[in-house]
Amino acid sequence: MSATQTYMFYRGYALPTETHSEESLKFAQEFEFGDDDVVAVTYPKSGTVWTQEILPLVLNGGDLTPIQTIPNWDRVPWLEEKRLAVVVDQLPSPRAMVTHFPYHLMPPSFHKSKAKVIYITRNPKDVLVSSYYFHQMAGFLEDPGTFDEFMEKFLAGKVLFGKWTDHVKSWRHTDLGDRIMYITYEEMVQDLPAALRRFSDFLGCNLSEDTIQKISEHCSFKSMKANNMSNFSMIPKQYMDADKSPFLRKGISGDWKNHFSSEQLARFSAVIMKEMEDENFSRPWSLD
Ligand code: A3P
Repeated sequence: MSATQTYMFYRGYALPTETHSEESLKFAQEFEFGDDDVVAVTYPKSGTVWTQEILPLVLNGGDLTPIQTIPNWDRVPWLEEKRLAVVVDQLPSPRAMVTHFPYHLMPPSFHKSKAKVIYITRNPKDVLVSSYYFHQMAGFLEDPGTFDEFMEKFLAGKVLFGKWTDHVKSWRHTDLGDRIMYITYEEMVQDLPAALRRFSDFLGCNLSEDTIQKISEHCSFKSMKANNMSNFSMIPKQYMDADKSPFLRKGISGDWKNHFSSEQLARFSAVIMKEMEDENFSRPWSLD
């Protein structure tokens, strides 16, 4: 990865300058987390924008106003991005945010607070595929090159927010106790109402079954694809070109099978399995 103006480097991590700046990262480090705050943490392409749809509805009892009137990036802002400073005073309580930070980049106030965390993991093979298409459509990211080249960058951690394995491991080894809930993208795809019940229970929202069903409908892939507040259609084409690939692209598990050759699968699995060999957590997919 070349150090062009497209990216800046922050504590060893490449970040796009379109969305991040020295000021936004300082703002994140000085951000005062409150006990009621909720933060969804993802490695990029693991379901971040999906949680920007889910969290407001779970926290407000299913009122659709935020997802119909506020763009996702202002509705549930990224901790590390420029928009947080702009919208922070308008966030309803409890505040919901997202972040791609690995655990060690979280600001001091986060550790002192009782803020709750939802960590979403996605099959790294599908993360790679999703990220590959995203790099093709996003004009503010570097060109990914061939799929083979991009896979090598991904495995070496020369991509946004570093290695997938380091990110996942960093959030598996925390002292957060019952402040953190783990869920996978695949569980959410498989049974969204069940996933929403887990969100609701964890956040103490006590939602009725009718409300769960309502939220599930409005957070489906189809609904989000049609929601101009969530499908990035407001972003000029030079930054995000849906003709190259829509942001809400396929929304399924297992699309990697349409992209990996047998050699790529062997190479990818060998690296990921080696780096995850001491990790023992249940997930609805295998690393091989
Ligand atoms: P695909 O490219 O595989 O379709 P992030 O928001 O972290 O960048 O992740 C983007 C991925 O989440 C994309 O995956 C996108 O389609 C998927 N996604 C977003 N909303 C979704 C939904 N409601 N259901 C399923 N997948 C969703």
